[in-house]
Amino acid sequence: MLDHDVRVAPSLLSADFTRLADELDDIATADLLHFDVMDGHFVPNLSFGVGVLSQVKRATDLPVDVHLMVSNPEECVPWYLDAGADVVSFHWEAQTHARRLVSLIHEAGAKAAVALNPATPVSCLEELVDELDMVLVMTVNPGFGGQGFIEGSLAKLRRLKALCSAHGVSPRVEVDGGISAGNAAAVAAAGADVLVAGSAVFGAQDRVQAIRSIRDAALGGLARRA
Ligand code: DX5
Ligand code: ZN
Repeated sequence: MLDHDVRVAPSLLSADFTRLADELDDIATADLLHFDVMDGHFVPNLSFGVGVLSQVKRATDLPVDVHLMVSNPEECVPWYLDAGADVVSFHWEAQTHARRLVSLIHEAGAKAAVALNPATPVSCLEELVDELDMVLVMTVNPGFGGQGFIEGSLAKLRRLKALCSAHGVSPRVEVDGGISAGNAAAVAAAGADVLVAGSAVFGAQDRVQAIRSIRDAALGGLARRA
């Protein structure tokens, strides 16, 4: 990965589904589209699935970052790869054979990431981090958009960066939940370089401006890190 860039990934969960094509057009200046799959079991909410992903892939040029909040990633990951996921994140808390899942994702030509709930320590990645393209640090309890950022996530991001340096690797670090232009600099300074934002983008009148503000703030934080 490049060390000098940040990526903004609007979360489709906060879009207006009655006008999805327009919503996707509005965020064309973003870097990734974050696609939250919720199964009503791993998290207490249902969102959308593989059928919607196939349609969304036809309606956007952005790479799609699929965040699987499901209890059965071993079963589901192949479906999302077949539907064109560019990045697949599965939750550490939901899997049994993480390395097998990572290989499966790589064999399909996609990027592999592990997502960590707020209470899951980064040390669980000790035997896996070398294989990962990205680590997703949940900065809220997963399940809903519009929640408040958990401040303790900043220290967790620093612990993750230390673990990665100890292994001599630099996977991308994605933060997800409660991210806005107001805290983008802080998370980037602490180690994040992919910023998911749902309500901060789709809740804004001017989505282009919202994406730009988050990116500019994060770039400022990144400069502070270096
Ligand atoms: C939460 C989802 C997030 C969510 C972020 O479980 O994984 O991607 O949509 O939304 P905001 O940015 O509003 O917290
Ligand atoms: Zn997400």
